[in-house]
Amino acid sequence: MQSNALNISINDVTKTYGDFYALKDVSLEVKSGEFLTLLGPSGSGKTTLLMVLAGFTRPDYGSVKFGNEEVVTKPPHLRDIGMVFQNYALFPHMNVEQNIGYPQKLRGKSKSEVKESVAEALSIVKLDGLGHRGVAELSGGQKQRVALARAIVFKPQILLMDEPLSALDKKLREEMQIELRQLHDSLTMTTVYVTHDQKEALTMSDRIAVINDGELKQLGSPNEIYTNPNNAFIADFIGESSLLPAKVISNKTYLGASEIMISHPSKDDGDYLLVIRPEKLFLANGKEKDTNLFSGIVEGSIFQGESQLLVIKLDPGSFGEQSLRMRLPNGSNIGQKVPISGEKISVGLRKSDSFLVE
Ligand SMILES: Nc1ncnc2c1ncn2[C@@H]1O[C@H](COP(=O)(O)OP(=O)(O)OP(=O)(O)O)[C@@H](O)[C@H]1O
Ligand SMILES: [Mg+2]
Repeated sequence: MQSNALNISINDVTKTYGDFYALKDVSLEVKSGEFLTLLGPSGSGKTTLLMVLAGFTRPDYGSVKFGNEEVVTKPPHLRDIGMVFQNYALFPHMNVEQNIGYPQKLRGKSKSEVKESVAEALSIVKLDGLGHRGVAELSGGQKQRVALARAIVFKPQILLMDEPLSALDKKLREEMQIELRQLHDSLTMTTVYVTHDQKEALTMSDRIAVINDGELKQLGSPNEIYTNPNNAFIADFIGESSLLPAKVISNKTYLGASEIMISHPSKDDGDYLLVIRPEKLFLANGKEKDTNLFSGIVEGSIFQGESQLLVIKLDPGSFGEQSLRMRLPNGSNIGQKVPISGEKISVGLRKSDSFLVE
C-alpha cells in the first residue's frame, strides 16, 4: 500500500440534526493509498460521513484533513476528490463522453486535454467505443462504469463511493467488486467506500470501519473484524453467527450447566454471548483436544449448494434451551454422511474459535 496519495485524518467529527446525532465524535485515519470501507446498517451515518469528506455537509465540529491541509470549510469543487453517488447521477441530456468529460470542462481544460483524458478513463473502465451512446442506451453496469469514469477522469487523489453497486444484480455486483478493487490498486488513490453489505466490505477492503448509531464501533482488517468482533452488534452484523447466552462465574464460563473453554482470558463475572461461526463447527468424535463439545439433535438440514446448513437444538439438560447453526462444506466431506433431521449428533468447536462478547 505504498502510495503518494493523500491520507485523510478525521478528528472528533460530530453532526447533529436538531437533537439527533447523525455522527458522534468520529475519529478515523484513512492511510495513503488505502481502500477503506464504511460499513453499517441503514441510517447509521455512512453517507453523512462521506458527505463531510466530500464537503457537501459541514460538521458541527471536528476536523477533516487531506494530508496536512484542513479542509473542513473548503467547498466540494476545490477538494480534488472523485465521487460516485449511489444512484449514478449521470446527466441524462449528455452522452457518455460528455458525462465523463464534464469535471474536466469545469476545471477549464482544453478540448484536446478533455478528449484525451476521457478516452483514457473510458479505457480504464472498459467502455471503449461507447463514448457516443446516450445514457438511456446503457445497462445498469455500464452506467455504473460511466459514473466511475467521471469520478476518476481528473485523476483525483481521493475517491469516495457511496454504495455504488447496490443497484446491480448479484453476479455483476461481484464482478464489479473485483474490478473496482483492481482499479483502486492500479491508480494512485485513497478510496473511501460505503456499503451496508458485509460480504462486499470483507471482499474489497484493506480495512473496515464499522459504524452504528453515528459512532465508529470497530476499525480493523476484514480478518480482524471477522475473527475478533469486539461486541455483539458486530458479531451479529458481520458474517453468520449463533450468539448463545453464557455466564462467567469466578473465571469459569458456562453455557447452561456445562463449563466451556474460551480462547481469551476470562472476563469479569456476568452475562455474555458466546459467538459461534457456523463454519467453525465440525462433526466430533469426542477425542479432539482443546475442543468444546456440544450434543444435540438436528432440527433442520438444508442443502444450499456449496454447503449444507444444519440447525442443531442443543441438549437442554446440558446447555439450556438453545439452538446453533452449523455449516458443512459440500465436496470436502466426501464419504462423510450428512446428518439428517432428527439425528443425534455431537459437534466440536475449538477453544481457539470460542469467544465471548458483551
Ligand atoms: N438532512 C437531514 N435532516 C435530518 N436527518 C438527517 C438528514 N440527513 C440524514 N439524516 C439522518 O441521519 C441518519 C444517518 O443518515 P445517513 O444518510 O448518513 O445514513 P446511512 O448510513 O447512509 O444509511 P443508508 O444505508 O440507508 O444509506 C439517519 O437517521 C438520517 O435519517
Ligand atoms: Mg447512505
